[in-house]
Amino acid sequence: MKNHKINILKNKKNKKKIVCLTSYSKAITKIIDKYCDIVLVGDSLGNVLYGLNNTHTVSLKTMINHAKSVSKGIKQSLFVVDMPKNTYNNINSAKKNAKEIIRKTNCDAIKIESNNKNYSIINSLVNSNINVMGHIGYTPQYKKKFNIAGLTKNDEKKLISEALQIERAGAFSIVLECISSKTSQKITEQLKIPTIGIGSSKNCDGQILVTDDMLGLSGFYPKFVKKYANLKKEIEKGVKNYRKDIINKKFPRNENSY
Ligand code: KIV
Repeated sequence: MKNHKINILKNKKNKKKIVCLTSYSKAITKIIDKYCDIVLVGDSLGNVLYGLNNTHTVSLKTMINHAKSVSKGIKQSLFVVDMPKNTYNNINSAKKNAKEIIRKTNCDAIKIESNNKNYSIINSLVNSNINVMGHIGYTPQYKKKFNIAGLTKNDEKKLISEALQIERAGAFSIVLECISSKTSQKITEQLKIPTIGIGSSKNCDGQILVTDDMLGLSGFYPKFVKKYANLKKEIEKGVKNYRKDIINKKFPRNENSY
C-alpha cells in the first residue's frame, strides 16, 4: 500500500501537478486530506505551534505525538513525517529513529534535510525499506540565516549535484525550498523523481505550503506565501461575538443547557 502510494506520486511527474500541505493535527488533516497528494508533519511546528525561533530543538517525541494525531485523520494522502534535527546524524541513529516514527505513527515516509553530506544515510534508510523524501535549498535545520538559493552559477551547480545525489541515494521525491526559478527548473528537468517547491516557483512538479501560513493564521507571510483565507480575522470575529453574547447574557441559552 505504502509503495503503491509512492508509485502513484512518482508517476505524476510531467503529467499532473502534485498538491502538498503541512498538518500537525487530526482536525486539520481531516479537512485537507482529500485535496492533497502529500500531507507532511513538518518540524515547522516548532515555529508555528510552539513559538520557537527555529526548528533546532524540536524533539522526536513532539514529532511523533503530532504525527499520531495526524494519523487519525488521514485517509488517502501520502503521509510524510519530518525527522527533526540531530535525529539522523549517523546511519544507526537515523535507522533507529526513522523506524520508531514509522512504528508509532504508521506514516508512509520520512523527510530529511540535506547537509550535502548525508547521502549515505538516505541510502541506508532506503535499503532498509524506508521511503525517504529529501529537502534542499533553504534547509532550516542547518542554516542560521534565511537566503534564496541557486542565484549564482556556482550555487546552481552545487544544488543540481546535491539533488542528483539525493535521487541516486534512493529518495522518492525532494523538497526545493526557496530556490530561484531558473535553478528549480533545471533541477526539475534533470531529476526523474518529483520536485516539490516551497518558494521555488511554478517550475517544480508540485507545491507545498505551511497550512497555517496559507490560511492566514500564522502571521508569517513572506513573498512565496499566498493567503487563501484569513482565519485570524474569522477567529477574532467568532471570539468577539462569543464575548459579546456572554456579557449580554445571550449565551448560553436554554438550547445550550441541560
Ligand atoms: O517543516 C516543514 O513544514 C517543511 C515544509 C515547509 C516543506 O519542511
